[in-house]
Amino acid sequence: MTKNDRANFGSKIGAILAAAGSAVGLGNIWRFPFETGNHGGAAFILIYIGCVLALGIPIMMAEFLIGRRSRANTAGAYRQLSPGTQWKWVGRLGVLTGFLIYSFYSVVAGWTLEYILQAVSGGLNGQTAEGFINTFNSFVSSPWRPVVWSVLFVLMTHFIITRGVEKGIERSSKILMPMLFILLFVLACCSISLPNASEGIRFLLQPDFSKVNSKVLLGAMGQAFFSLSLGMGCLCTYASYFRNDTKLPRTAFNVALIDTLVAILAGFIIFPAAFSVGIRPDSGPSLLFITLPNVFQQAFGNIPLLALLLSLLFYVLLALAALTSTISLHEVSTAYMHEEFNLNRKKAATLVTIGCILLGMLCSLSLGVGSQFKLFGMTLFDLFDFVTAKIMLPVGGLFIALFAGWYLDKQIIWEEISNRGTLKVHIYRLLFIGLKYVAPISIILVFLDQFNVFG
Ligand code: TRP
Repeated sequence: MTKNDRANFGSKIGAILAAAGSAVGLGNIWRFPFETGNHGGAAFILIYIGCVLALGIPIMMAEFLIGRRSRANTAGAYRQLSPGTQWKWVGRLGVLTGFLIYSFYSVVAGWTLEYILQAVSGGLNGQTAEGFINTFNSFVSSPWRPVVWSVLFVLMTHFIITRGVEKGIERSSKILMPMLFILLFVLACCSISLPNASEGIRFLLQPDFSKVNSKVLLGAMGQAFFSLSLGMGCLCTYASYFRNDTKLPRTAFNVALIDTLVAILAGFIIFPAAFSVGIRPDSGPSLLFITLPNVFQQAFGNIPLLALLLSLLFYVLLALAALTSTISLHEVSTAYMHEEFNLNRKKAATLVTIGCILLGMLCSLSLGVGSQFKLFGMTLFDLFDFVTAKIMLPVGGLFIALFAGWYLDKQIIWEEISNRGTLKVHIYRLLFIGLKYVAPISIILVFLDQFNVFG
């Protein structure tokens, strides 16, 4: 296929929105709060922000410039920029990582659909905090219901993917992101004003560094990669559709900023409410789904119609935020199969969809009927989350930083970052130091720390 056949994001703002649409999703609203809860709160958040600044932004720029320069899928990108070398394995690892993430992500995305239905049917009305916990647990462990929802979610993603890059992805991001942001803000205000919310706010704002250990560091780093969609060529694939005048540094800053703000807002929704009604902050992946119904119940219980409308709006927007992320995950594998194996886009997308449905089913079942089956002490669902976010993405990020910092011709980086000299770029030096030294060294140190190398 020639370069001209490839799609383009129509406008500059479209590029930012699509990348932000990929980044903002369940990672911010579902995963960030439960990781924060598991790792003790404020200190984790500060380390997370450090990871976004020191690792996230430089690596995002690296992915952008690799993608736009090569105008190819992530494996093809490395082949083009470094023909005949083994760097293509970085791209291939990314495709595999994305596929595994897609499988368990689609399960959680399916849960959002169930909660839309619950919101509409009033199933969440008038329950106690205990009741919400029971409802969630019996739902996720039932054999078929969550599976049906996740299959439906994958099929929705498939439908959008097969309609093409520009139309599907760009249109959906433009209106939904600002709406989501406003609603999150309103809900955070509601949550903060619940009785005894102050304990939750303290949990978010008062760091206790004595509890920081190697797990906290790995958790924060993994969360930064996961939430920013980094380390597997997702944003690299998107950047291959960017226009030549898209400003890469500015896009990277904006995406990181939006993504982090959404995550922190989600924290301000979850923790004040969780402490207020007595839900443990370390409840794990169920945290969002057992805490949020309480916010609606407590804040709007007297006005059932408002509670219904707001909860419906929230779950719909959450599902759509997840959808713009699954689209990006699906696109990585689809572009790879399409361009590397000469399959047409539809066939490529169909294969990815079938594979994901099968693996997603296993992940979903591992929370119920298959829960006795454990690998390394984890269910398949937890294992996929752990291996992808905490190992594969950081390893991918490490190699992306090394590739851009040490291997790529400096001229290429300069041209892409400055749009061939037409932009004034102040952060060029900083970017280089980040990619060459800061990112690789910190990723390696966090990994070494896992083995207790530092005592
Ligand atoms: N970042 C998305 C979220 O926060 C999930 C996601 C989409 C992702 N594409 C990715 C995670 C690529 C890692 C890599 O919900």
